[in-house]
Amino acid sequence: MLLVRSGGLELYLCYKFELMQKQNLMEKIVSLSKRRGFIFPSSEIYGGFANTYTYGPYGVELKNNIKKAWWKMFVQDREDIVGIDGPIILHPKAWEASGHTKSFNDAMVDCRKCKNRFRADHLVKKSTGQDLEGELDKMTKKLREEKVKCPDCGGSDWTEVRNFNMMFKTEMNGVAEKDVYLRPETAQAIFIEFKNILDSTRMKVPFGIAQIGKAFRNEIIAGNFIFRLREFEIMELEYFINPEENWERLFEKWLVLQGDFAVNILGAKSKDLKRYEHPKEKLSHYSKKTVDIEYDFPFGFSELFGLAHRGDFDLTEHAKFSGQKLEYLDPKTNKKYIPHVLEPTFGLDRALLVSLLSAYNEEKTEKGDMRVVMKFRKELAPVKIAIFPLLKNKPELVSKAKEIFNDLRDDFVCEFDDNGNIGKRYRRQDEIGTPYCVTVDFDTLESNSIVTVRDRDTMEQEKINIKNLKDFFKGKFKNN
Ligand code: GAP
Repeated sequence: MLLVRSGGLELYLCYKFELMQKQNLMEKIVSLSKRRGFIFPSSEIYGGFANTYTYGPYGVELKNNIKKAWWKMFVQDREDIVGIDGPIILHPKAWEASGHTKSFNDAMVDCRKCKNRFRADHLVKKSTGQDLEGELDKMTKKLREEKVKCPDCGGSDWTEVRNFNMMFKTEMNGVAEKDVYLRPETAQAIFIEFKNILDSTRMKVPFGIAQIGKAFRNEIIAGNFIFRLREFEIMELEYFINPEENWERLFEKWLVLQGDFAVNILGAKSKDLKRYEHPKEKLSHYSKKTVDIEYDFPFGFSELFGLAHRGDFDLTEHAKFSGQKLEYLDPKTNKKYIPHVLEPTFGLDRALLVSLLSAYNEEKTEKGDMRVVMKFRKELAPVKIAIFPLLKNKPELVSKAKEIFNDLRDDFVCEFDDNGNIGKRYRRQDEIGTPYCVTVDFDTLESNSIVTVRDRDTMEQEKINIKNLKDFFKGKFKNN
C-alpha cells in the first residue's frame, strides 16, 4: 500500500484498509462473545430465531454493571432525580395520547423480485444520499426513477413505500381494550407517574424521573449484532423544568453528562463520538431540539444516545386523554404550570456493544505470543478477581485457593479456576477482562502466606501477603 504514490489512491486504500479492520473487529467481537459466554444467538437448538440474543454469564454481569453505573451516576448520586420501574404493558390509551398508535411508523418497501422487505428511507439515503424520511411518495418515486438496486437480489422492482407501525401488539385477559401493546419506549411509563411522584416525594422542579427497562419495536430490519434489536433495553430519564428556564444551557449540560458516561464508563474514545442535530424541518412537532450522539461503529457512525426537548407535549396529552390535571404548583410563586421536559436517553444494548468494542485489544506479549485482552473499566469487568491454585492435583494448594476465593467473594465478584496450565488460565481471564488474577503456589503454603497477584493490563506480578489481600483489592477497586 505504501508503494502507491498517488495521494488520492493512497488515501482511498488507507480508508479501505481501515474499513476492513473495523469489519474484522465486529466479527472478532461476535465470535469472542459466543466463545466466552458474553452473548449467544438465541434459540440455536431450534435453528436460531432472527436477531434475538441471550446475554450469557459474563454478558449479564457486564450488562448489570453498566446499568448499575448509569443508575449511580444519574439517580443515586443526584438529589434531583428519582427512579421508577414501570410495567411493560401500559393502558392502551397511553399510546394514543403519546401519538404512538398513529405515528410510530417506519417507511417500508418490498422488493417484488425476492419479496424481501426494507426500510425505504435507509435504501434511498444509502443510494442517493438524500434524506426523505417521512415523505413516502417522494421515496417511491426516487427508488423507481433511480432504479435503486435491491441489496439482496439486485432487482429494482419496488412496491409503493408505505408506513408500518412498529409497536408489538399482544392480548391480555381481563381487559376490555382490544389492542394492548408492549411498550416501544420507557418514557411514557414515566410521564403517567408524574402526579404520583409529585404526591409521594418532595421533588421540586427542576427534577427528573429515571427508568431502565425493556422496550419492543417491530423493526423492519434488525441487525448489526445487538445494535438494532426488536427487544432491547433503554436507560432514560425525563427532566422536568420550568418553561421559563434557560433550557439551552441545561441541554448542553445533559449532552456533556451523557458523553462523560460514554467515555469514562463505557470506555469510548471522544474521537469516535459525533454530534448529529436533527434539522428543524425533521423534528417531531413537539420537539424544540433533538441531538443524537453517534458512535463510530464498525458499520459506520450510528446513534448511541440522544437528547430531546419534548416541551410540554407528553404531560399535556396525558392530561387530555386521562382527564387528570398534570400540573405543577410552584411553591415560590404559587403559580401552576405544565413543566417542559428534557429527555436524555441511552440504548443499553448499544452501550454494551460500545463497551465490548472499546475494550478489545490484541497485544504481543514479551514472549512474542499474541494475547486478546478485554480492557474494560474495572467497574464494568464481569469478574473482578480470579483465583487459581498453581496445580489442580495438590489438595493443599486447592484448599488454600478455595479459602481465599471464599473470603474475597464476600466483597468482589470472583471466579475460581483450576483448569489447564496457568498460562491458559491467564488467557481466558484476559478474554473476559478480569482485572486481577491471584495464584496460590508452594510459597503460599511454605513461607509467609504469599500469593502472586497479576495485573491484566500490565501483566506485572506482585507478591502480596494473604492477610493484606482484601485491603489491597479494596484499594484497587476504591471508586467502583
Ligand atoms: N424515549 C425516547 C426514545 O425512545 P429513541 O432514540 O427512539 O428514543 C432510545 O431510543 C435509545 O434506544 C436510542 O438512543 C438507541 O440507543 C436505542 N435504540 C433505539 N432503537 C433500538 C433498537 N431497535 N435496538 C437497540 N437499541 C435501540
